[in-house]
Amino acid sequence: MDAIKISDNIYWVGAVDWSMRNFHGYETGRGTTYNAYLIIDEKITLIDTVKAPFKDELIGRISSVIDPSKIDVIVSSHVEPDHSSALPFVAAQAPKAEIITSAPNGLKGLTARYGQLNYRAVKAGDSLSIGSRTLQFVPTPMLHWPDSMVTYCPEEKILFSNDAFGEHYATARRFDDENDLETIMFEAKKYYANILMPFGKQAQAALKALGGLEMRMIATGHGVIWRRNIDRIVEAYRQWSGGAVEDRAVVVFDSMWGSTEMMAKAIVEAFASKGIAAAYYDIKHNAMSDIMTDVFTSKYLAVGSPTINNQMMPTIAAFLCYLKGLRPLNHLGFAFGSYGWGGQSIGLVEDELRAAGVEIVLEKQRLTNIPSADQLAALSTAITSLIG
Ligand code: FEO
Repeated sequence: MDAIKISDNIYWVGAVDWSMRNFHGYETGRGTTYNAYLIIDEKITLIDTVKAPFKDELIGRISSVIDPSKIDVIVSSHVEPDHSSALPFVAAQAPKAEIITSAPNGLKGLTARYGQLNYRAVKAGDSLSIGSRTLQFVPTPMLHWPDSMVTYCPEEKILFSNDAFGEHYATARRFDDENDLETIMFEAKKYYANILMPFGKQAQAALKALGGLEMRMIATGHGVIWRRNIDRIVEAYRQWSGGAVEDRAVVVFDSMWGSTEMMAKAIVEAFASKGIAAAYYDIKHNAMSDIMTDVFTSKYLAVGSPTINNQMMPTIAAFLCYLKGLRPLNHLGFAFGSYGWGGQSIGLVEDELRAAGVEIVLEKQRLTNIPSADQLAALSTAITSLIG
């Protein structure tokens, strides 16, 4: 496993996780990468490590350039184990290395996980000369952990951005322009929706802090290195962090015997009749992380569930719990469902939508047993009147 040169004396030495399909519940259908970068200068510097099972791949790539024992500095941008769990192993291979981490949370987190290593905590405004290059440290707290930090090298105009601007995407091609742009933009949006959505304000603060920097590369912690489409991904982050939504609708439901499904179809067609593209997600057949990517930028959200044992379906409960945690912005929604008796689920769905921050713009739509043609027509009218 060889290092890949990304600039003079700078190498990608990370790992590709081709098989990863579930990242703590986030379905990663295209795998992922754990990116680490080696800078050969007077002080040999490693930016980040990888997930522990990939430590030999990391060491192998580093060894294709230099003896790992020669590393002087390891920058640990983020305590989450996908970037740091190989750190104790790498530190043992590089005994003289100083480990740079953010103060106070990076230091606390690494110490709690890995014990006392040769740490040096840095704060906003701190920098380190590694010879002909400087590393400037920029804390990005809650983007998406309290310890998160990015590193800028002004001589190279490279931002080492860790999770920010990344995507779960396994590829042997390191740069954005060597991959299909729409695919990586989709995966970047999916990453933002499922990891960063609750932290829009923090993302905007980070964009402001990075605003004046000249960048010729954004070397991320996951997926591709941006060099050709930097403006596009930065502008996308501006839009996403501000909660921008499009005139689209997402209809998410579960169904027991097909009646709530009939309602879902009628709702999708009603939106479409008003020129609003509507996505149809039977939750049994779609991953929540994919649904959330679409919900994230869609103005309308309709969620449906029949009633089971006085409750909503557990699948829909899980979806709404996930939605609530991600704290979506600027959505208009309503609940719907068919029921045999009782019908408590629809009110419970409405309560959870409201708790997730969705503005309820239509009274809950409840139908008993099999919806009649007239009832479905009335449902369609309710949707179309909503749009005006
Ligand atoms: Fe890629 Fe938050 O770790």
